[in-house]
Amino acid sequence: MKIFAHRGASGDYPENTMLSFKKAIDLGIKSIELDVHKSKDNNLVVIHDEDIERTFKGRGLVKDYTYDELKSFKCRKFEFVNNDLCKIPELEEVLSLIKQNNIYLNIEAKTDLIHYDLERDVLDLIEKYNLEDNVLISSFNHKCINIFKNLNSNIKYGALYHTKDDFKGFINVVEHAKNLGVYSINLNHQLVDKYIVDLAHKSNLKVFVYTVNDPILMRSMIECKVDGVFSDYPDLMREILNI
Ligand code: G3P
Ligand code: CA
Repeated sequence: MKIFAHRGASGDYPENTMLSFKKAIDLGIKSIELDVHKSKDNNLVVIHDEDIERTFKGRGLVKDYTYDELKSFKCRKFEFVNNDLCKIPELEEVLSLIKQNNIYLNIEAKTDLIHYDLERDVLDLIEKYNLEDNVLISSFNHKCINIFKNLNSNIKYGALYHTKDDFKGFINVVEHAKNLGVYSINLNHQLVDKYIVDLAHKSNLKVFVYTVNDPILMRSMIECKVDGVFSDYPDLMREILNI
């Protein structure tokens, strides 16, 4: 089972920063998840929200700042570890770390609330670092997945689903994902049960589940035989899996 360090080792370090990614790697975790947006000057930047305020000491939208401006913001949480590794990283910085450490990376394209024209730029970077076999690109925006697929069909893609509204019109999430032609369904844990996991596997779809932080939920996902989980505490998941 894959254990993705969700936004890095984000339970103990500032999420989506080089520090949280390095700490996950130091723990021996082999898969990492991160979120991508675009800055005003068209740099791919790694941050979860459209707005910087929850995680950094500033206000406003990521898309309205240049990267030089974005990297000057100090992180809001875990102030005790606040250093140069705790700024908003560029995707390229992270890809270089991923390459050096042979990590599997899930890049979530955050294009569902704000439209960014980022697909070609993300693929160019992946191709530059020869990471085609090491990445899974996902999005809640399934149109964005189709754009990626048309640009590069050799990479693996995951369709993210949060609620049943995300696959409205289909009898279940598996039928919807088959129609999209993706490698995996990346599900909110509330959508997961043994029936849907078995159904997905019969259709050759992998099932990755977010965000699995609670030990009871961790055990239940293991019982359902999901293919991977996203956790802010990847080391705890590894302990429970006994690997
Ligand atoms: O990709 C899994 C998970 O990260 C999706 O939800 O809100 O944490 O980006 P969110
Ligand atoms: Ca994410």
